[in-house]
Parts: sequence; C-alpha cells; structure tokens
Amino acid sequence: MKSKKKLRKFLKSMRFRLVIVFIFFGMLPGIVLSTGLVRGYENRAISIRCIDILNQAKILSDQIANTGYLEDVTLESINSRVELICNIYDGRVLVIDNTFHIIKDTYDLDTRKIIICEEVATSFQGSESNKYDPVNRYIQLTLPICDVDTQETLGVLLVSASTDVVRDAAANLKNIAVIVLLFAGFLITIFAVFVAGRFTWPFRKMSKSIEDIQIGYGEGLLLIDDYTETEEISVNINALLKSMKVLDESRQEFVSNVSHELKTPLTSMKVLADSLTGQTGAPVELYQEFMTDIASEIERENKIITDLLSLVKMDKAAADSLNITSVNVNELLELIMKRLMPIADQQNIELVLESFRPVSAEIDDTKMSLALTNLIENAIKYNDKPDGWVHVSLNADHQYFYVKVEDNGCGIPEESLDHIYERFYRVDKSHSKEIGGTGLGLAISRSVILMHRGAIKAFSTEGEGTIFTVRIPLKYIRA
Ligand SMILES: Nc1ncnc2c1ncn2[C@@H]1O[C@H](COP(=O)(O)OP(=O)(O)O)[C@@H](O)[C@H]1O
Ligand SMILES: [Mg+2]
Repeated sequence: MKSKKKLRKFLKSMRFRLVIVFIFFGMLPGIVLSTGLVRGYENRAISIRCIDILNQAKILSDQIANTGYLEDVTLESINSRVELICNIYDGRVLVIDNTFHIIKDTYDLDTRKIIICEEVATSFQGSESNKYDPVNRYIQLTLPICDVDTQETLGVLLVSASTDVVRDAAANLKNIAVIVLLFAGFLITIFAVFVAGRFTWPFRKMSKSIEDIQIGYGEGLLLIDDYTETEEISVNINALLKSMKVLDESRQEFVSNVSHELKTPLTSMKVLADSLTGQTGAPVELYQEFMTDIASEIERENKIITDLLSLVKMDKAAADSLNITSVNVNELLELIMKRLMPIADQQNIELVLESFRPVSAEIDDTKMSLALTNLIENAIKYNDKPDGWVHVSLNADHQYFYVKVEDNGCGIPEESLDHIYERFYRVDKSHSKEIGGTGLGLAISRSVILMHRGAIKAFSTEGEGTIFTVRIPLKYIRA
C-alpha cells in the first residue's frame, strides 16, 4: 500500500517526467535515422543487384542469339557462362524458345516443360521485366532474346537470383544500429537523470526551506533565486509569512490588551475593597461612597465584556451569518437618534437628522444600528463645546446609501486618524475612560460596515470637529 503510494508519487514527480521527455526526444532522432539508413541501404543494394544481373543477362541473351544456342543447347561456351551467372548470383537461369518450351533450366527441374506466365509473355513482345519478391527474397528478370539483324524475338531468358546476401548485410547493419542505440540510450538516460535532477533541485531546495521555516530553523525567509519562477514564489511566500507574522503579533497584542483592560477595573475594586476592610469601624458614608465606586467599576467591566463579545462575534461571523432583511434606513436612523437624544440633551448638544430621500436597503438592522450608534455616540461624547452640535445626514443613489456624521467637537489629531479603528485605541485614554469609552466602538463599527461590503472614512481637524462618512450597498452583495 505504502510502496504503491510511493511509486505513484515518483511517477508523478517532475523529475521522472523530465527524464522521460529527455529520453524520448534524445532517442527519437537516432531511431528514425537508423531505421531510415538500414531501409535505404537495403533498397539501394537490391536495385544495384538488379542492374548487375540485368547487364549480365543482356550480354548472355546476345550471345545466345549470336551462337544459335536455341537450336543447340549443348554449346559449351554458353553453358559455362550460364553456370557462372548462376554461381555468382546464387540463382537459376531458364532459356525459353519461341514455342514457350524451356530448353535449359539450370536446376534441371522444368526442362522441356511449357512455361506460361505474364512476365515471359511480355518479354516475347520485346520488353524486359523485373520483379522483387521481398517475402521469398529473390529478384526475377525476364528479357527477350532478339535476332541481331531482324530484331525478331527468338526466345526469352528468365533469371532469378536470391537476395539473401543483401538481406543478411542489412540484418547485420540493423544489429549494429540496435547496439549503438542501446548504448546511446544508456548515456542519454544517465544524462537525463542528471539534468532533470539539476532542473528540479531548486524546487526540492524550496520545499526543504519551507519545512525548515515551519519547524523554526533558518532565518524565516525564503530565497531560492535559481529561476525567475522560484524567485517569484519565494517573494510571494515571504509576503505571506510576513502577513501571518503580523496577524500573529496583532492577536498577541489583542490578548494582552484584553487582559490589561479587564484587569484595570478589578484592580480598582480590589483597592477600594481592601481599604474598607483595612479600617475597623469605618463610617457608613465611606462604605456607601466606596460601594458606589465599586458598582461603577463593575459597570465598566461589564461594558468592556459586552463590547468584546460583540466584536468577537463580528470577527467570527462570516458574512453569511448576517441576518439580512429589507430595512427602512430612515426609520432606523430616527430610532437611533431618539435613543441618543437624552445623552445629547444632557451635554447640551444639538442633534439633527437630515434625510434627503426615503432609503430602503438590504442590511442586518441590529448590527447596522450598533455601528451607526457608535459613530453618533462618539460625535456626542467627544464634544465639550458650549454650542456643540452633531449633524447626521442620509442620502442615496441607485447603488449605495450614504450616512454622514458631522460634529464640531474636539477632533482627532492627524497622526491618530490611521489608528482609530484599532481595538482599544483611544486618542486620549484618560478622557475616553472618563466618558465611558472602551476603545472598541469604532472597531465594531468598521467590522459591521465591511461585512456589508461598505466603506467608512474619517476626516478631522483637531479642535474643530470630525466627519465620518459611511457608504453601504443598497443590495446586499453575497460572497
Ligand atoms: N467624533 C469624534 N470626535 C473626536 N474623537 C473621536 C470621535 N470618534 C472617535 N474619536 C476618537 O477615537 C477613539 C476611538 O473611538 P472608539 O473606538 O469609539 O472608542 P471609545 O470607546 O473610546 O469611544 C476615541 O477614544 C476618540 O479618541
Ligand atoms: Mg465609542
């Protein structure tokens, strides 16, 4: 089972595939060339042999015509020449007279028999024929025996010769080619294994480096610059590692911030309680005062936990956990304003809502209400001007609705504008705490707005006021 998996892994590897490609393309030209060479040699050798035999046969046919051999087959000069040709070409000669009778057969099998075949018939008409039979491995030639003076066909000469010699030579050549190819294949394989190993080395190096980084060895950075591709992968992985590191750091920071924020009210309560228990016979008024302080610390602890819970819920809530319904945004904002009015009145702040048109949008009303409440509450809270005001406006186009929260409060310093959405970030820690802030409000608002695929922006001039603008799509965009 395990070895099967290993084998599959090996067959799938880039190295193995490269080796196969190298061997294939390395051997292909050799194989094509050698088969072509052997074939070419064979064809050429056979055609040369054909021409040779034909020349010899022509001379013989002229001699037969001149000497009157057709009338007297015992003529020694011709017979010896016929024997010679048979010996040289490992063949058989038939001499046929004009009555289609075989008057001479060097094999002595068919003498005096009648021969009728197409080739002989064509040669009686005056033309030569030749035929190569690759299966039985012989060449057969027929040519007319013509009278020198009248050019009349007196008979036909049929010569057949074996091509075994050519065949054997070609087979020999083929064997040599196979041996050479095998040797070349061996060399190419060694070369291919080496080159494929060299090619894939950067990738193996990369995998090893990533493994090392994972274990915690190395500098935690990848740099494989053998190829442009590996360099690009290295750069991208490094970027990924960096963002993971940042994420990890921010998580650690968050945890330490949470512990700190939760501990502060507890420390105060402990101090208050200790100082009460430390005194014997403390007056009731002191008890009452300290208990009120303890209650307000409990209140604060409660608020931090509530905010934290809604933030964590927001983080965890994938967008699909939103409870999207069609909501009348004008009514939603009016309700928020009504709820915040008492706080505004308390601080003597004029709170105004201006709706430019009726807006209905697909949103999660509870979460959106939390986000907008945070913005408007901030605008009220961070405003200690005697003639303070907060203007909220609602507008829309065919794609988005826009909420603008504008105040003439204390403003946010420019260097803090980039940080206000961070968890627990407060411009002025003590002032914010006094007001009852936890530093989580804007983080929650931003989460909600991003979950709705919207955008939030802040503009501020210190000492003059702040503007928050929110843009939310009217139709909820599913992921
Ligand atoms: N409208 C505003 N005017 C001035 N400062 C603001 C305003 N809104 C937010 N801030 C600053 O941004 C910080 C972060 O706001 P937030 O996340 O709501 O936390 P907090 O719980 O302190 O209100 C606040 O502490 C405050 O310093
Ligand atoms: Mg706030």
